[in-house]
Amino acid sequence: MTSANKHKVILHKVILDVDTGVDDALAILYALADPDIELLGITTCFGNVDVDTATENTLAVLHLAGARVPVYRGSAAPLLREWEGPVPWIHGDNGIGGARRPAHGRSAEAMDAMSFIREAVRRHPGEVTLVPVARMTNLAKAFAFDPELPGLVRRVVMMGGAAACPGNVTPVAEANIWGDPEAAQMVFASGVPITMVGLDVTMQARLTQAHLDTLTDSVPYASLLREAVGFYMNAYQRAQQSQEAWCALHDPLAVAMVSDPTLCRTERRHVAVETEGRLTAGMTVVDWRPAAPAAANADVCVSLDSARFLARFCERLGMQA
Ligand code: RIB
Ligand code: CA
Repeated sequence: MTSANKHKVILHKVILDVDTGVDDALAILYALADPDIELLGITTCFGNVDVDTATENTLAVLHLAGARVPVYRGSAAPLLREWEGPVPWIHGDNGIGGARRPAHGRSAEAMDAMSFIREAVRRHPGEVTLVPVARMTNLAKAFAFDPELPGLVRRVVMMGGAAACPGNVTPVAEANIWGDPEAAQMVFASGVPITMVGLDVTMQARLTQAHLDTLTDSVPYASLLREAVGFYMNAYQRAQQSQEAWCALHDPLAVAMVSDPTLCRTERRHVAVETEGRLTAGMTVVDWRPAAPAAANADVCVSLDSARFLARFCERLGMQA
């Protein structure tokens, strides 16, 4: 048990898989503040930034939060494709909106992310919830190496996909799926229980400048949050052509769904990932037909109680909703 979790009644053993990333940083802080989550470890992946930057950002956020959760470096590229590179126009050159990273003297563990996932799931069969908020490359590799693993995982609660809404990289594809569609399809086809927290609901989880303005100075990560989230909101304002400054809390909502699955209404559906289409690669194809021929493999989030989520998020991170 980590020091941050010592006095909690803990209901969920979680491994968070990140490409930190501004909203990944918020997801880490939310997970640390959730009394029902024991964070066994954090695994890192390429995505918003390269895997080494994601690892460094993760360690920096943990340091600021005073948490000694172990961090495991993972994949540097998709299973079969070239990595398209970072997205500095969304997350900044360093992935956290240009915010200064504190010196911390910590490194990632020697064990790699895939081995850690396998080892932790086997150590706690039926108990571990995997929460990938990045490309699902690490999970796909762990499942491919140990085909019994999906049957030993409690649940995968993943941020990714666009069930019945536009994508954010292409007209139909969301970034975490689009960035490694083969890995995502392997996870959806693995038989592991899945909750899909896609853009349908994460785009409704909106943190505004008015929320950020209430951030208390007493939280040790206040200045990082102001800078990183400020940058991220500017990116959203440009992309959404919005009058208001806001950003989507994609990754924190996936974490929140672990301990409170009633935040979103879900539908049990079959989901497959398009890996070949010229226009549709990375699309999450949800079978909405009443008599769908393939058995459902996911609980797909279709709507969100955004007021309740925002209230919880703000309270846990030192803001007012
Ligand atoms: O599409 C949103 C997702 O892509 C989030 O996980 C965000 O961090 C980015 O990687
Ligand atoms: Ca992410």
